[in-house]
Amino acid sequence: MSSRKTFQSIASLYDRESSYATELRRIYSNLKSKNDGDSQSVLITSAMIGEGKSLTSSYLAITVANLTQLKVVLVDFDLRRPKIHEYFNVGSRPGVTDIIKGELKVKSAARKSSIPNLQIISSGAAAKVVGELIDQADLSTIIQELKFYFDFVVIDSPPVIPVSDPLLIGDHVDGVIMVVRAGSTQKEVFKRAINVLKNASINVYGAVVNDYEDVLPYYFKDRYYGYHYSSPQDLKTS
Ligand SMILES: Nc1ncnc2c1ncn2[C@@H]1O[C@H](COP(=O)(O)OP(=O)(O)OP(=O)(O)O)[C@@H](O)[C@H]1O
Ligand SMILES: [Mg+2]
Repeated sequence: MSSRKTFQSIASLYDRESSYATELRRIYSNLKSKNDGDSQSVLITSAMIGEGKSLTSSYLAITVANLTQLKVVLVDFDLRRPKIHEYFNVGSRPGVTDIIKGELKVKSAARKSSIPNLQIISSGAAAKVVGELIDQADLSTIIQELKFYFDFVVIDSPPVIPVSDPLLIGDHVDGVIMVVRAGSTQKEVFKRAINVLKNASINVYGAVVNDYEDVLPYYFKDRYYGYHYSSPQDLKTS
């Protein structure tokens, strides 16, 4: 892996004219319609690792910041495989782990990005036992504070099947977006992940298909969101 200094920020790779940016704008307009006018918090997760959660959260946050005057924050709540600091070429600490431990206030954790109304909260100092840290976190207060300081909160998280972090965080956000990687996410695994979220009474806003080969075209699965999905036979959940 190249050093942080030589890593190009994802913000400079974002192309407003691209098909993924168009899809993300549609996704945002759909999210907005589900909002009652207050600040909105969205958790991005997927069934398994490597399906494009961090990329999708980053691009969604950039899209909303570009499209609106809202104060947007992107929070790296994947304390196991944190990536947001690399994608935005900022330091990994301080950040979420320091907030959880009560050593840092939400407001002081946020750093500027190259996009004026988008701020980033990194994962923070590495934690030895992430599960315990998440268990002890006052997630309700943290997310309330995020929504107090920001209008639109995008939270990147670990996947649903291997760990319970997204369930715990998902309980406190307005809704969850699932990422599916075309040609990689297995139907049964995706179904299981959706069921796990639903059984925990977590609000699933929709699913986004991240197609590796075509570099980030996103589609919402109509069953969840009202957009046509490219290969419904691959991802039926019932
Ligand atoms: N549509 C895409 N086009 C090109 N590369 C992609 C695409 N989606 C993901 N990748 C690459 O796949 C890898 C994983 O993506 P990302 O970090 O977004 O996944 P993740 O679901 O957050 O993974 P993890 O579970 O490890 O947190 C990265 O190297 C990313 O650049
Ligand atoms: Mg990730």
